Amino acid sequence: MHIHKYEKWWITFGVGSLVLFLIIVGFSAFHYGSHPPSAKVYIDPERVDEIAPFNNPGVHKVEGKEWDYEVVVVASAFFYNPQEFEVPLGSTVKFIATTKDVIHGFQIVGTNINMMLEPGYVSEYVTTVDKAGEYLILCNEYCGIGHTSMTSKLKVVE
Ligand code: CUA
Repeated sequence: MHIHKYEKWWITFGVGSLVLFLIIVGFSAFHYGSHPPSAKVYIDPERVDEIAPFNNPGVHKVEGKEWDYEVVVVASAFFYNPQEFEVPLGSTVKFIATTKDVIHGFQIVGTNINMMLEPGYVSEYVTTVDKAGEYLILCNEYCGIGHTSMTSKLKVVE
């Protein structure tokens, strides 16, 4: 069978792109640990304010768990509650977040924390904060006219 030279180049390019794509996906999944959210918990998005822990957003110290702090975040168009929060350096923190209206994002810039918040679902992420500083949190799911101003701030203090 004769395959034209350009056809060979094209096949090489196609297969090469596929392999490159799989390497990038594999690297981000196994090396950076980015995985899809488990979305095991369902809550009524219309009653978020009444349901624990979302009836009390903010930073809470906890005892007897694998993490030291729980950061409870409620997203809605176009802000996060709380607007900013502070955790001590070296602590293990569990972020627990949901949304009251449409899909929002919860990305902590400069880290691998990047959750999608879906109405009716609870997104969680446990991490140890090992670098002091201020981190911008932003919404990276387009949610409407105020999307670009939807930010919050995480302060990691010594
Ligand atoms: Cu919330 Cu974009």
